[in-house]
Amino acid sequence: MKTKVLMVCLGNICRSPLAEGILKSKLDFDKYIVDSAGTGHWHIGNKPDPRSIEVAKNHGLDITNQRGRQFSQKDFEAFDYIFVMDNSNKDNVLDLAQNKEYKQKVHLILEEIFPNENVDVPDPYYDGDQGFENVYQMLNQACEIIANRI
Ligand code: 4NP
Repeated sequence: MKTKVLMVCLGNICRSPLAEGILKSKLDFDKYIVDSAGTGHWHIGNKPDPRSIEVAKNHGLDITNQRGRQFSQKDFEAFDYIFVMDNSNKDNVLDLAQNKEYKQKVHLILEEIFPNENVDVPDPYYDGDQGFENVYQMLNQACEIIANRI
């Protein structure tokens, strides 16, 4: 059985597609499945934001095949780990969790770097390219720790 990891943000076009691409690049695809989803519905079926595609490309990753999808209750059963990008995503996902086992699958991704500090990955949607590079750097650090642990 493969270990399954889901990355979650709001739109599934900026942060979680990057997190998906980064973590995938650090894991053996024979043993792991990595996917991403958004709590919102606006970008279902869409490619990642061009700025996420660009920053991924600058770091040797191709995320152009990803398409947006919305997080659903089925994901609690389907995935072993659910990493959310910020506290708002966490609240939205936990609202859908129907039991303790599901709730325990949900982790704020930057807890990996800053345990118990409740730090969000900032939403770069309204930022310039530097915001996307910052997000990449945070996610790369967090995913390195995750890849070594799971
Ligand atoms: P993401 O960024 O949650 O990192 O994908 C956003 C993308 C789109 C929107 C919000 C956040 N939006 O409101 O459309």
